[in-house]
Amino acid sequence: MCGIIGIVSKKSFSVKNDLLKGLKKLEYRGYDSCGFATKEGAVEKSVGEIQLLIDSVKDSTTTLGIGHSRWATHGGVTKANAHPHFNKDKTLFAVHNGIIENYQELKQMLEKNGYGFMSETDSEVIPHYFDYYIKKGLGIKDIMIKFMAEVKGTFAILLFRKEDGRVYAMKRDSPLVLGVCDDCFVLASDIYAFSDKTNKALFFDDNEFAIISSDYHFYNGNGKEIKKKIQNFEWSREEETKKNFEHFMLKEVHEQPAASRRLIESLKLMQKDALKSFAEAIKKSKRIFFLACGTSYHASLIGVYLLRKLGIEAHTVIASEFENFLAVDKDTLVVAISQSGETMDVVSVLKDIKKTGAKIISIVNVPYSTIQRLSDFSIEVLAGQEICVAATKSFTNQIVVMLAIAKELGFLINLDEIPGKIKKALEDNEEKVRKLALGLKDKKDIFVLGRGISYPIAREIALKLKEISYVHAEGMMGGELKHGTIALIEKGTPVISLIPNHNEDMISNTKEVEARGARTIIVSDTNGDLIVPKSHDAEFSIYACMIGHLLSYYIAKENKLPIDKPRNLAKSVTVK
Ligand code: AGP
Repeated sequence: MCGIIGIVSKKSFSVKNDLLKGLKKLEYRGYDSCGFATKEGAVEKSVGEIQLLIDSVKDSTTTLGIGHSRWATHGGVTKANAHPHFNKDKTLFAVHNGIIENYQELKQMLEKNGYGFMSETDSEVIPHYFDYYIKKGLGIKDIMIKFMAEVKGTFAILLFRKEDGRVYAMKRDSPLVLGVCDDCFVLASDIYAFSDKTNKALFFDDNEFAIISSDYHFYNGNGKEIKKKIQNFEWSREEETKKNFEHFMLKEVHEQPAASRRLIESLKLMQKDALKSFAEAIKKSKRIFFLACGTSYHASLIGVYLLRKLGIEAHTVIASEFENFLAVDKDTLVVAISQSGETMDVVSVLKDIKKTGAKIISIVNVPYSTIQRLSDFSIEVLAGQEICVAATKSFTNQIVVMLAIAKELGFLINLDEIPGKIKKALEDNEEKVRKLALGLKDKKDIFVLGRGISYPIAREIALKLKEISYVHAEGMMGGELKHGTIALIEKGTPVISLIPNHNEDMISNTKEVEARGARTIIVSDTNGDLIVPKSHDAEFSIYACMIGHLLSYYIAKENKLPIDKPRNLAKSVTVK
C-alpha cells in the first residue's frame, strides 16, 4: 500500500499545486499519514489526510520534491513514522512503499556504527544506509547496486540528496512508474498521479533502478544500463471528480449502467478476440483456477458457478492461501481477477505460477498494472477509475466479464439488457434502501443469505456492510444457516434474503429465521421488500448487489462515517 510520488522538473513547480495535488491522487493507496521533502531540504509531515497537510503548509516552489501517503505496517500512525525519512544531517531523504524484511539486521549494523533512529519503521534504514556508504566513499549508483543485493523484501523507493537535482528510484515487487511530461518527470506508484499531465510512461520492472534528472537512465540490479520503451496509456480524467455526488462511492454506484455498457460494447468489438481466446483457453486447459482477494474473489466465485453450470470444472482460492491448496502445471489455466492489478497476494502467487508454464489470464480494471503485465493476456473491465476504497462498479463489470465468457461458452444470456436493468434496480430501490438504513443503522449484526450464484453476492454485501458501514455482517449459504449460525438469530436480528426466481429453498430458509424472530428483508425479482428487474439468477446477482451497495452507503452516511476512506483500509493492498 502507500502512495509515493517524486517530481523532477526543468522549471519551478508549486509544492501544493503539483507535488501534493499529485500525491492526493494516490491517497486511496493509504491515508494514515503523509509528508513531503524538497530539493532545498524542506520536509513536512502530518498525521491524517493529505488535505490537512495542504491546508497547514505555506506554498513554496522547487524543482525537485518527493511525497508519501502512508498505510501503516511497521510502527503506529504517528508523525515520526510518517515519510519522508532522512539522515541526521537532513541531506538525504527517502520515501518507501513496501516492507524491508531484514531491516532489523540493517538497523543493528547502522546502530553499531553510531546511527540513531527516530521512527519505528523499517523504511528509516534507507537514508541511514545510503548515508553510511556515502561516508565510506561509495558513489550512489554503487550503493543502489549494493542495496538491491543486500535488502530483502519489497520496495518502491525514491531518494534524493539535498541540492543534488537527481531522484534515485529503486523497485522490487511494489509498483513504480515514470511519467514523461513536457517539462518534468513524475515518478509515482501508479499512472493516476500524473494522468492529467501526460499519457506517456515507463514502467519499472522488478529489480530495476533509475536515476532521473533532466533525463533518465534505467539499470538492472547489477548496474547495467537498460533501454526501456515509453508506453502510451489512455485514461479518462472526468472520473477524478465527485460531480454532484457527496461521495465517490455513490457516484461510482450510479456510474454502473454506463460502465457496464462501455464494457459490453468493448467485449463485442475491441476485446472480442481476447474474449474468444479466453474461451479457447478454458476449453483447452486441463485445470482452471481462479485467483483473487476480497471483492474480486466474490466475482471469481460467480465465475466458478457459471462454468460449472456449463459442465466445466473450475476452482477458486483466495490468493493468500493459494499455495496451501492448489498445484499448477503447464496444462493449468490461472485466471487472476483484480481491480487494481497490484494486489500483492495475487502478484506473488502469479510470480511463482509463471515459472510452471501455466497460462495466466487476468481480468483487471487498471491497465498496465503489474497483474496485467504478468499475464499472457488480459481482459480489461473498463470501469474507469474507482476512487472509493469499496469496489462497486469494478465488481459489477467483473461479473459482466464472467457472464460474457459463459455466453461465449454457450450460456444463454442477453448482456445488452444489463445496463438498463441496473439503472432500474437503482431507481426503484434507492429511496426504499435509504429509509431501510435508518432502521438498521444501530444494528450490531446483519446476516445475508444466498444460494447458488446469489451466495457470492451474500458474501459481497456482507463485506460492503463491514468495510463501509462498520456493521458486523455475515454472508452465508441459505442452506448452511441451520448448521450452527441460526443460534445467533433472535427477535429483531436483521436477515437479508436474496431470492431469485421464487427459489423455494431460499424461501424455506427465510421462513426458518422468521420463525425465530428475525427481521427479514427480502430482495427478489418476484415478491419482496426490495424488487429488482426480473432476470436469470446469474443476472439477479448484479441487481441484488446494487441493494448491498446502497444499503452499506446509506447506513454509513447515517452514522457519519468516512465512506470513501474507511478506517484501516487502502484501495490497493500491496503488502502480503
Ligand atoms: C473491496 O471493496 C475491497 N476494498 C477489497 O476487498 C478488494 O476487493 C481486495 O483488496 C482486492 O483488490 P483488487 O481487486 O484490487 O485485487
